[in-house]
Amino acid sequence: VDSYAVMGNPIAHSKSPAIHTLFADQTGQSLRYTANLVETDGFEKAVKDFFENGDLGLSITVPFKEEAWQLAKKRTSRAEKAGAVNTLWQDDQGQLHGDNTDGLGLVADLKENNGVNINGARILVLGAGGAVRGVLEPLLSEQPAELVIANRTLSKAEVLVGLFPGEAVSSSSFEGIEGRFDLIINGTAASLQGEMPPVPEYIVDNSTCCYDMMYGAEETVFNRWCRERGAKKTIDGLGMLVEQAAEQFSIWRGVRPDTRKVLDLLRNEIA
Ligand code: ATR
Repeated sequence: VDSYAVMGNPIAHSKSPAIHTLFADQTGQSLRYTANLVETDGFEKAVKDFFENGDLGLSITVPFKEEAWQLAKKRTSRAEKAGAVNTLWQDDQGQLHGDNTDGLGLVADLKENNGVNINGARILVLGAGGAVRGVLEPLLSEQPAELVIANRTLSKAEVLVGLFPGEAVSSSSFEGIEGRFDLIINGTAASLQGEMPPVPEYIVDNSTCCYDMMYGAEETVFNRWCRERGAKKTIDGLGMLVEQAAEQFSIWRGVRPDTRKVLDLLRNEIA
């Protein structure tokens, strides 16, 4: 049977096996998809063993996305810019290919599932870690009017801006953010600590859409903060998770699943 897996550490709470199994059922594809816990120093060998065994494709999650980028012999341009790979497969010559579907997942969730306009929008992205770097190229290719990256450590935001010379992207401290935005995306890990980045209140008004790349059973701290300040819409990252998986599935299988039903099922499951 065609075998796929997600590799990470930790991995027990990964929703990828459930998502890909639902996609397979829905599209009538016969495959197996497992969650593989990998020791932090054992990733390269785990990948090698996986493909030598004849298995077909891997999803890669924390903390291995950068190492997966290193291992991939061929990378898509969006993966190249992301500096991280979340999707691996081999071609007929046994060459390892890497892609990063996170940014496309975010863009698809914004546009298709939530009707949010990116083209021409003034966008604020909070954070400058791996999660943010992974989504910048797909966001910029939608041609926003402006994209500001604000981060606690300004130098990290500056490094990301430097990856996109000549594009309408700039960096800022949290305190120094100017004006209001059409779309604000939270890619910081602050939610994990139940914290809100210290940003000015005037960034949100009643026509601002807010997107937290995190999700959970409860509303995230960021989304609550935005809703309480009158945001037009608040969205969490569950849709991005499903959409990035759908893109992986179509890379591997050549078939695009219907994400809406899978998203509804997962939403009920985590509630
Ligand atoms: P990831 O791969 O999930 O992006 P990361 O590379 O560790 O993880 O990046 C975490 C991001 O969350 C960074 O932008 C970090 O800010 P710094 O670059 O200043 O470290 C941000 N972050 C983490 N905790 C935060 C907090 N309590 N308030 C604001 N930003 C926070």
